Amino acid sequence: MVVARRWIQCKPFQGAATLECFQLIEEELPGLKNDEILIEALYLSVDPYMRVYPIQVDKTPIALQVASLSGYFGLLRQCRPKKGDVVLISSAASAVGSVAGQIAKLKGCTVIGSAGSQKKIDWLKSLGFDYVFNYKETTLDEALQTFAPDGIDCYFDNVGGSYSQTALNALKPRGRMCCCGYISAYDTLNHQLDSMKDDLLLKIMVNELSVSGLMVLSFEDEFQEALSEMAQWIKENKLKYKETIFEGFTKMPEALLEIFQGTAVGKLIVKA
Ligand SMILES: NC(=O)c1ccc[n+]([C@@H]2O[C@H](COP(=O)([O-])OP(=O)(O)OC[C@H]3O[C@@H](n4cnc5c(N)ncnc54)[C@H](OP(=O)(O)O)[C@@H]3O)[C@@H](O)[C@H]2O)c1
Repeated sequence: MVVARRWIQCKPFQGAATLECFQLIEEELPGLKNDEILIEALYLSVDPYMRVYPIQVDKTPIALQVASLSGYFGLLRQCRPKKGDVVLISSAASAVGSVAGQIAKLKGCTVIGSAGSQKKIDWLKSLGFDYVFNYKETTLDEALQTFAPDGIDCYFDNVGGSYSQTALNALKPRGRMCCCGYISAYDTLNHQLDSMKDDLLLKIMVNELSVSGLMVLSFEDEFQEALSEMAQWIKENKLKYKETIFEGFTKMPEALLEIFQGTAVGKLIVKA
């Protein structure tokens, strides 16, 4: 007979999780059937998502690797750091953040990290982070004025909230941000993310959205190629376009107003 121990959540969290919310129970396991094996967990991962999705506690084995993989993919695939980039990592001493920051260093970036204690700050320095600060003592705004007055190229976000709004404002044109975590809000969430469903950064993280701005002139080098391709599609009747033509140069203001009234169909052109 094997008696297993299991932690269950016996009370809903009200704000921060407290020890009374958890109960240790023992249960006798059914005997093994053919082709079944019994596994004993020697180490258990503890992760921020358990505060939001406590029901998933039994998924811990995979979580052991998830943190470092999140740092790896979030940094390399979403932030796409280039040599010389300035990279900001929030919750930099977390399992995820510390991996992301070290990989950014391996890629030749200048790395800024924030954490909430001196012990973590010292550890981050020993990992080779260029600049580290305690966000409980120094605001991100102040830190950026000192360490990155010209802005940042990449932001690896583990915390969300007002910190990340500030970081977003500091991103340079064509900067990249990975919305990896939103730990600053986990204590206020009640099992579901419903209460914050309109929060843009949370939406981007949960739905793995890619959001990019566009300034078309950035693609100037590819204009000719794009125009040739579209001309071919038009010739093959695969791409259609429409124009609304105003006759006479004096119609310029009228044409402009038409755009905002939204009545004209297709590209507005004035024939002088
Ligand atoms: N997107 C994904 O697939 C994925 C996968 C794994 C993890 N994550 C996210 O990545 C982040 C880090 O996860 P982890 O497993 O590496 O965490 P971890 O090692 O457990 O570290 C968590 C750290 O977050 C900081 N923190 C706690 N409460 C905070 C608050 N209210 N505001 C700001 N910081 C707070 C604390 O450090 P300091 O306060 O000292 O900085 C804490 O030590 C989390 O947001 C997690 O949800 C995302």
